[in-house]
Amino acid sequence: MRPHSGLLTALPAALALFSAGPASAQRSAADQKIDSLVARMTLEEKLGQLNQLSVDNQPNAEQLDLVRKGLVGSFLNLTGAGATHDAQHIAVTESRLHIPLIFGHDVIHGYRTIFPIPLGEAASWDPEAVEAAAHVAAREAAAAGVHWTFAPMVDIARDPRWGRIAEGSGEDPYLGSAMAAARVRGFQGTDPRAPDAVLATVKHFAAYGGAEGGRDYNTVDLSERTLREVYLPPYRAALDAGARSVMTSFNEIGGVPSTASPWLMTTVLRREWGFRGFVVSDWTAVEELRNHGVAGSRADAGKLALEAGVDMDMVSRIYVDDLPALVRTGRIPVAVVNEAVRRVLRAKAALGLFDDPYHGASPERERSVLLAPEHRQLARRVAEESIVLLKNDASLLPLAPRVKSVAVIGPLADDKVAALGSWPGRGDPRDAVTPLEGIKQRAGSVSVLYVKGCGITDTAAAAFADAVAAAKQADVAVLVLGEAGDMSGEAASRANLDLPGVQPRLLEAIYATGTPIVLVIMNGRPLTIPWAAEHVPAIVESWFLGVETGPALAAVLFGDVNPSGKLPVSFPRAVGQIPLYYNHKNTGRPTGPDKYTSKYTDLPVTPLFPFGHGLSYTTFSYSDLRLSSLRITPAGTLHASVTVTNTGSREGAEVVQLYVHDEVASVTRPIRALAGFRRVSLKPGEARTLDFQLTAKELGLYNRDMKFVVEPGTFRVFVGGSSVGGLEAEFDVTARLR
Ligand code: NOJ
Repeated sequence: MRPHSGLLTALPAALALFSAGPASAQRSAADQKIDSLVARMTLEEKLGQLNQLSVDNQPNAEQLDLVRKGLVGSFLNLTGAGATHDAQHIAVTESRLHIPLIFGHDVIHGYRTIFPIPLGEAASWDPEAVEAAAHVAAREAAAAGVHWTFAPMVDIARDPRWGRIAEGSGEDPYLGSAMAAARVRGFQGTDPRAPDAVLATVKHFAAYGGAEGGRDYNTVDLSERTLREVYLPPYRAALDAGARSVMTSFNEIGGVPSTASPWLMTTVLRREWGFRGFVVSDWTAVEELRNHGVAGSRADAGKLALEAGVDMDMVSRIYVDDLPALVRTGRIPVAVVNEAVRRVLRAKAALGLFDDPYHGASPERERSVLLAPEHRQLARRVAEESIVLLKNDASLLPLAPRVKSVAVIGPLADDKVAALGSWPGRGDPRDAVTPLEGIKQRAGSVSVLYVKGCGITDTAAAAFADAVAAAKQADVAVLVLGEAGDMSGEAASRANLDLPGVQPRLLEAIYATGTPIVLVIMNGRPLTIPWAAEHVPAIVESWFLGVETGPALAAVLFGDVNPSGKLPVSFPRAVGQIPLYYNHKNTGRPTGPDKYTSKYTDLPVTPLFPFGHGLSYTTFSYSDLRLSSLRITPAGTLHASVTVTNTGSREGAEVVQLYVHDEVASVTRPIRALAGFRRVSLKPGEARTLDFQLTAKELGLYNRDMKFVVEPGTFRVFVGGSSVGGLEAEFDVTARLR
């Protein structure tokens, strides 16, 4: 890690930027208005704008009093057109300067119409669908008075023990960047003033997913190279797509908590990347600087965070309570406060809150928009695309038309709460259609028997006999097993990734009946299921698919929809392999038959299911990988084309993936790195030639001086339907073309 220079200089990083930044040279008319408002504010009112409080259903009397005094800039968790209207009315009519509040909320994968968890959506490899889903979430949230969502969460996660892997897009920076940008576009639209737009927050800055041991909130210690190559790209992509706010992460990186890091919040974010929006701390993260041991008092914690570039204090109440004295005594320059206030006011102005503090929300609009039929339709489509067919021996799936009776078994088969996953917004489990309900709706003349078998975390095998009897009577047993919705998400790390409780024993008991099994897993992270992968003929990864869980699953199981999802994350064979990711380095002793190579003595190094893997009911072949040239300059563009043919008998969609490898460079490179992908739908026998572009963005690296460059040398290209195998070609980057 480079020296965190902002910590070492006397001038606070945030102030240095303000006085030197290009923004101060030419101020727009909007900025001038904000300047004149700031000029009229008392110090308390300024720090009030930087104060965000959480409400429990309704603001309490004390909180409303603070609003009247201009000591609150934002509420989180206050939703509903009526409730937000009431609080806003007080702010704009009873506070001295009539400054509107901004209402933030965690709208992660839907507000009321709940979509698949983000990790599931990432499995669709369909940024357009993900953008559309985010737009629906924004439309509903905005109608219910929410101005600002704390999403997208773009933290790269290489450790499935970390429960928050469910909220992101998996392990890969390229796919993660595409999903991050799509979600920002969906939330914010083209104009945040629109009544169906909310501001996006890219979080958690930075590298929250790198927690040691996969334990939530834990220490992160990464090289600057890994930070820049792997963890930072999705945040950058979200900001390039226009995200207007950033949330700090709870963790430290190499000894400096993010919430007190001028290097992250000012040097990288604002100086290098030119970010002009505002930064909010995570929940009590300012106060937590004391636990980290970098601040001895609340006031010290507030000073560290504000001067690092953290504009809004979520819940700690330190800025508003403890910083006035520090500013008055000159320990914090008032210019730092002014700049933070400007950033917050700019966001409110961007939403149009100074003109319409209610942002178009109304109870009528809320009623007509929430769970609108077209929202459910989209939720179903996205759910269908998010399902990944992991295994399908002897084409056991689809069930139709051969199967006449199905036994549906397992604790997740009829669980409406789990279907919504973690962070279900204002979703209502009653809106969710469970796998059992979906199967029954679709079954027609196929008979459906249902036995729960056990609870999700049960440790006793009491009801297996009924489940076994049901399986014996049926042509096929569909087992719906996995985790409860809240076993992933925040503060939900697991040290063991097996199916919980007695579920593995239930699976074995049904297997012993000889009835063919389709295993559907519902989970917020990769699970270790080696026994199932070896014995069960068909395995379907369904994540938590949201309100349309049942219909989407049934459509895939019965064959109305051909599965097309691909894993956004590697599935380990055992927890001991973690961290496990496809884009690893070769090492000096790559895995081989020789004893002294990089491997385990008791398990292969390969995953159970690799990144990018996902089957279809049809088959695809790849041919004619062609490069536009065998040589390009470092600034050049190379086109790679490949023909994909549907060689089976059903229509289907394939996610074509292109990976690159830089063979010899000044620093070590991943064995391959995703550099392009395309979802393509093909009729039986149909072929399509796809074109990919490779530029410095895909081919570059951070050299030993941490400069992003494309180095001359040989590159290898791989194209296929997963991160393993594929067609290969080679080209050279040369300083000059001869
Ligand atoms: C804590 C979580 O880390 C963050 O992601 C979330 O946005 C805030 N709480 C607010 O709920």
